[in-house]
Amino acid sequence: MILDRDSVQKPIRIRLRRPDNWHNHFRQKGDPRFAPTVAYIARQFARANAMGNIDPPILTATQMIGYWNDIREVAKAAGFLDFKPLMVVMASPNTTPAMLTAAFSAGAYGVKIMPANATTNSAHGIIDYKDPKFLDVLRVTRDQRRTALFHAELPSRPRAVRERAFIPILDQIRKKIPDLKICVEHISDAQMVEWVINQGDLVCATVTPHHMSVTSDMADQDPHLQCMPYPKSLQDVFAVRTAAMSHPRFFYGSDNASHLRPAKERTDASPASGVFTAPTELPVLVELFEAHGHLDQLEEFLCERGAHWHGVPLNQGEIELVRNPWDVPDVIDLCNGHEIVPYNTIPH
Ligand code: DOR
Ligand code: ZN
Repeated sequence: MILDRDSVQKPIRIRLRRPDNWHNHFRQKGDPRFAPTVAYIARQFARANAMGNIDPPILTATQMIGYWNDIREVAKAAGFLDFKPLMVVMASPNTTPAMLTAAFSAGAYGVKIMPANATTNSAHGIIDYKDPKFLDVLRVTRDQRRTALFHAELPSRPRAVRERAFIPILDQIRKKIPDLKICVEHISDAQMVEWVINQGDLVCATVTPHHMSVTSDMADQDPHLQCMPYPKSLQDVFAVRTAAMSHPRFFYGSDNASHLRPAKERTDASPASGVFTAPTELPVLVELFEAHGHLDQLEEFLCERGAHWHGVPLNQGEIELVRNPWDVPDVIDLCNGHEIVPYNTIPH
């Protein structure tokens, strides 16, 4: 379904190859967010990433297989029999090459590197990017032709510059391990966009709907738009959006990250970080690409570039999006009174 804002003279139907979502948080079994999120995602995507920052985090092959089974079970129960979770393991300071090799053998396409305490469930994350053990993790990733997926932020810096402050770390890593495949996740900063573009074919970025639309001013006013990396200036939004709408190494990863209303709207502490894009993401993307005259780039961005970059086959089959008026609800009852606010931002 497509949001019906100013729909005159715009196509009624759009057919696309079944899409991929290269960055997503499903949450976990036992959590009220888990089953509804799996259903929202599996309904729209043939494949979607399952980020492992759950509790406990996905650090081993065994945990990853368990998580894969949980997601598949719920997807099947919702009727999505062929949905494919795209699995990764999280790096910790104690990750060994053997742990990583086992995870890659079990089907992980990469290792996710989160800075310690940068965001939700990241206490296990990385602190020292020069640690020889960490560099070994990256070398194994390189040797096995998998991807190092970076949450590229330096949490010690003010949030407006956290992502650009990570560029020297990436430069050092590229110098030491030039043939490592790197994905900068949920890219948010014009300087990082430029850095990725300048690196050549082994470096890519995923792009979220919100980092293509939401500025820091907007997020300051609305906890439901707050996420990590924190939204930035309009100039950054333009840079991210322009790359998404034109560059072969920028592709879709929604970073759908649900938090229930009490966690988002609490006043005694900072709101939980993450934007719940799952119910609205495809209509929002169509609107955004359409508004900027780049509907022709949508299929590449959403369905093709990620598969090309990761070297996996394109999905078979198509989805059809039909333009219909839709009043997106302000609040969704996920189940049994667990309320959540879906993303629904009009593009600039
Ligand atoms: O805003 C975010 N939320 N950024 C992340 O990196 C994690 C995510 C979450 O899991 O809630
Ligand atoms: Zn994420």
